[in-house]
Amino acid sequence: MTEIEKLLQEEQQKGLASLEAVTDAETLDAWKQNYLGKSSLVMTTFGKMGSFSKEERPLVGRAVNTVKVALESALAGKEETIRQESLLKGIEKETLDVTLPGYPIKRGRLHPINLSLREIYRIFGDMGFQVYSSPEVETDDMNFTFLNIPPYHPARDMWDTFYTEDESVVLRTHTSPGQIRSMREYYPNPLRVILPGACMRYEQQDQSHEIEFMQFELLVVDKNITFADLKGTMDDFTKRMFGPDARTRLRPSHFPFTEPSAELDMACIFCGGEGCGVCHGTGWLELGGCGMVHPRVLQYGGYDPEVYSGFAAGVGIDRTTLLRYHIDDIRYLRANDIRFLEQF
Ligand code: DAH
Repeated sequence: MTEIEKLLQEEQQKGLASLEAVTDAETLDAWKQNYLGKSSLVMTTFGKMGSFSKEERPLVGRAVNTVKVALESALAGKEETIRQESLLKGIEKETLDVTLPGYPIKRGRLHPINLSLREIYRIFGDMGFQVYSSPEVETDDMNFTFLNIPPYHPARDMWDTFYTEDESVVLRTHTSPGQIRSMREYYPNPLRVILPGACMRYEQQDQSHEIEFMQFELLVVDKNITFADLKGTMDDFTKRMFGPDARTRLRPSHFPFTEPSAELDMACIFCGGEGCGVCHGTGWLELGGCGMVHPRVLQYGGYDPEVYSGFAAGVGIDRTTLLRYHIDDIRYLRANDIRFLEQF
């Protein structure tokens, strides 16, 4: 063994031994300078490899490399130990104040349409109605035929319908098909349901029309249901929704699925019936259609029109929401603008 090899071996022993005693980052730094720094034995030996003879060179090279690797891996181990220890010390020293307030949780809020919907559920719930869900994608039969609108009947033009590639399937244009579905499910029991949900019409969009809108259908079927029940229920609903001063009227109208049919109007809540921009000078606001369920529709639902009668109504939830919150453009409802939505 050459002199230099001996020296290197001693250097390794010394280095490893003194590393044992190191317990903090500063001393470790000094140790690193000492044993692996520019003027350390290891590094200076690398620097003067040229001065060794051809025979010595590979021996010295191997020896210095062995020492370097040994010192470096010991150093890495020590670094990790010190890091772990200081972490533990930190945790021990820190105290946790569990009485500090946490981060505030961002609260979501309900969409104004849902606020209206909940109010509608509450009002009709009080009157003994149940909520009945029915599909948004409907058969042509449910949307039209069973509502007394046969194929090719011009009354179909009352709705601008989205048809699918399958001719017998449409996007429902109103919640009325739910009348048939709920009757078929409840038969032969009396029923009192509201059917809420989205409807779709292929319409020009403007401040009071959207392609998608929300509606709720009202349906009561029992023995001895009369037009007076319809009028009383709709008037009561309007007063509970818009306040005790709300006034309603039923205006004769036509729908294929009701006979007689009417349009439910409410005295304009903005001008008190004087006539203003919102009610287009008429003093009245349209809330929806209604009427006594047509005998043929009762039959399609399974009920015998000689024994049973019923009333139905369809009211726009978007429109109701605009009126409740004095919003002047229906497009705000689905624009997803947080500045709008945060106001409710
Ligand atoms: N389905 C009708 C529409 O969307 C509204 C309607 C009118 C529903 C009269 C009814 C009703 O239940 O009796 O245009």
